Amino acid sequence: MDAVRKKPLWIVGGSQGIGKYLRESLDADYELHSFSRREGFDFAEEGVVRELLVDRGTPFAWIHCPGSFLEVPLLETSAQDWEELLRSNLWSFLNAAKTILPAMGDEGGGRVLTFGAAALGQRRAKLRGPAYFAVKEALLSVVQSLAKEWAPRGVLLNLISPGLIAHEHSARESQERMRSKVPLGRLGNPSDLLGLVRLLLSPQGSYLVGQELVVDGGLSL
Ligand SMILES: NC(=O)c1ccc[n+]([C@@H]2O[C@H](COP(=O)([O-])OP(=O)(O)OC[C@H]3O[C@@H](n4cnc5c(N)ncnc54)[C@H](OP(=O)(O)O)[C@@H]3O)[C@@H](O)[C@H]2O)c1
Repeated sequence: MDAVRKKPLWIVGGSQGIGKYLRESLDADYELHSFSRREGFDFAEEGVVRELLVDRGTPFAWIHCPGSFLEVPLLETSAQDWEELLRSNLWSFLNAAKTILPAMGDEGGGRVLTFGAAALGQRRAKLRGPAYFAVKEALLSVVQSLAKEWAPRGVLLNLISPGLIAHEHSARESQERMRSKVPLGRLGNPSDLLGLVRLLLSPQGSYLVGQELVVDGGLSL
């Protein structure tokens, strides 16, 4: 008897950090496709995603991890820094969404997860990484708008906002400085996100749409 075919799952940013952990953890349950620039796939480039859809077909789910961090005061943030933040955090997602969401809609639906950052919902100043948080705010707005537009076609978009998640390439000095502000008293690990990601990919997550889901040990309280 043939094994049941696993659902295709694309992880963009599966080469390091949170994406790498999710790739390794979800590999047994999904037909996993990992993409990153070092693997030859830049999701901020025109045409890349269109070709991938032709080659690999439409995924059931797309987890989008790119999102470079920058901790520089606002007036010292250069035009080049802004460009990089926007390209990494916002444009790589929007550029891919233009092609992936209609393809998922044609298949009857799909799941889309991307990453914000804890404290987005708070209407207050963010002096740690103000440009980064401003771009993440824009991403939240984009996810909410797309979620409302695409939910009727079964495409469910949500945004996970992590707190301080330590991994081999995370901003450790900055994270250690913030550690004492976490009510749970520790930095997070990529594994702290796994339960939520599994829920959002599962049938039990099929009534969750357009939400910002914060996983931060209470940092934003
Ligand atoms: N770690 C934390 O504490 C934390 C906290 C709050 C929010 N977040 C958010 O959570 C997400 C994941 O964080 P992380 O720490 O795991 O990030 P990360 O270590 O910077 O990893 C990003 C991944 O995305 C890939 N990537 C970047 N630009 C890409 C592009 N244009 N096309 C394809 N792949 C691209 C990178 O590989 P290449 O460089 O080879 O492309 C890498 O594999 C980010 O959005 C981040 O802002 C993280």
